[in-house]
Amino acid sequence: MDLPRPELFDFQGVSMTHYFTDNWENVQKFQARPDDILIATYPKAGTTWVSYILDLLYFGQTSPERQTSIPIYDRVPFLEINIPSMATGKDQADNLPTSPRLIKTHFPVQFVPQSFWEQNCKIIYVARNAKDNLVSFFHFDHMNLAQPEPGDWSNYIHRFMQGKMLYGSWYEHVSGWWKKKQTYSKLHYMFYEDLIEDTGREIDKLCGFLGLSPSVEEKQRVMGGVQFDNMKKNSMANYSTFPVMDLNISPFIRKGKVGGWKDHFTVAQNEEFDEHYRKMMKDPTLQFRTEI
Ligand code: PPS
Repeated sequence: MDLPRPELFDFQGVSMTHYFTDNWENVQKFQARPDDILIATYPKAGTTWVSYILDLLYFGQTSPERQTSIPIYDRVPFLEINIPSMATGKDQADNLPTSPRLIKTHFPVQFVPQSFWEQNCKIIYVARNAKDNLVSFFHFDHMNLAQPEPGDWSNYIHRFMQGKMLYGSWYEHVSGWWKKKQTYSKLHYMFYEDLIEDTGREIDKLCGFLGLSPSVEEKQRVMGGVQFDNMKKNSMANYSTFPVMDLNISPFIRKGKVGGWKDHFTVAQNEEFDEHYRKMMKDPTLQFRTEI
């Protein structure tokens, strides 16, 4: 699909592009149901991985045909997306036939439609360390024609530090959702690094939060299905059928590592980034691992 690359603009204090704000009024009026499950992340933090885990936990056994016929981005609609010639995420979410409905958003916490809070929906937030998140975003901006032009790497790091990215500041995003956890009990905050370290343990925690108790065999099936290499070659999970992405430039399921940032940052860039990071991230209770 031939799509003009969008420009970032300030939207209520957050850098956004029009593809994710044009449907704002409708998205804000979205009517959540009490059993809806919202998967919220800063882009490139592990959304698809966790979406796939949830989809398999809920529907892997009951609707096996889903696994071979419906791409993950249709099973778990992206609430605020509004790209020409494609169904809006809001309409897709409205029309989901499943129960529960699994819905994805990249909104910072203050943008989440009111009804999710009113209905006391379960929300899963996935966070990833800033450096790997930034590297993943950089590759994504090259291959996704609906994203702003990434520019060169050195400039990109500075944009990230200044919060001039789609969905704004990583620092504010992860911190805003972390703070919300103190007052909203139905929020499960996960870390990409923990999932890499021990996927089974994190699935157990997730099931505890969701009130699910899969059998040992079922859990093994889920773990097999969401394993990196399996998702990478699975055309229903790897975005190879999504119109605006050029996977020849960079695959969507790319490296799936913790610490890959070391291949991109120079020593000087790393020092500058760390110094700025310390100033931005003052809450000692929110800690990320940049290697495991
Ligand atoms: S998006 O566009 O915001 O929905 O992207 P998102 O899914 O959040 O993030 C994509 C990154 O997640 C990695 N990924 C995985 N890592 C490990 N295991 C599995 N199964 C897995 N699935 C997706 C994906 O490779 C992207 O990270 P990078 O670092 O670019 O490889």
